Amino acid sequence: MDAKDIAQDFEHVLFTADQVQDRITELGAQIDADYEGKELLLIGVLNGAIMVMADLSRALRSHCTMDWMAISSYGSGTKSSGVVRILKDLSTDISGKHVLIVEDIVDTGLTLSYLVQNLQSREPASLEIMTMFRKPEAITTDVDVKYVGFDIPNEFVVGYGLDYAGRYRNLRDVGTLAEHVYR
Ligand code: PRP
Repeated sequence: MDAKDIAQDFEHVLFTADQVQDRITELGAQIDADYEGKELLLIGVLNGAIMVMADLSRALRSHCTMDWMAISSYGSGTKSSGVVRILKDLSTDISGKHVLIVEDIVDTGLTLSYLVQNLQSREPASLEIMTMFRKPEAITTDVDVKYVGFDIPNEFVVGYGLDYAGRYRNLRDVGTLAEHVYR
């Protein structure tokens, strides 16, 4: 689905599908160079990271393996509290492996802060983070994100894995919704 297919729901496009793919290609090249000679384990955080994971893994020119975690954060309404419950844990043992967490978005950073602590205790050889989008104005915790696709304004964005009420994840472009959709 493209933004033009749902023009009546859309306010403005922040990044076109082509811009997203170009940035993924650049990040893939950077990650390939940084991990030369090492085998990488990509850990995708469900559900939002499915698109980034699919595209980033295919942009790499070296071998990688993949695993997934699903977590749910407790919070009031739309506010994340940083208290996180694991809904689906990894299927593999990550000790001694070079791990890259793959996220769609870092908002407050609370989810990643929990995840880093949790995965660090499993003693990987290295642990880094890649996120496609980051909202610098919303970050409340100090999370060290090595690879960032785009920094974005503190607006509610959908597309490329990011949803509103479960929808719009399959939108190729990324942008903001018209007010009538969520009012
Ligand atoms: C989103 C996103 C991150 C988290 C970021 O997941 O995928 O995991 O929120 O927010 P934070 O930085 O404020 O912790 P969400 O809980 O919306 O689930 P989803 O991936 O299934 O959409």
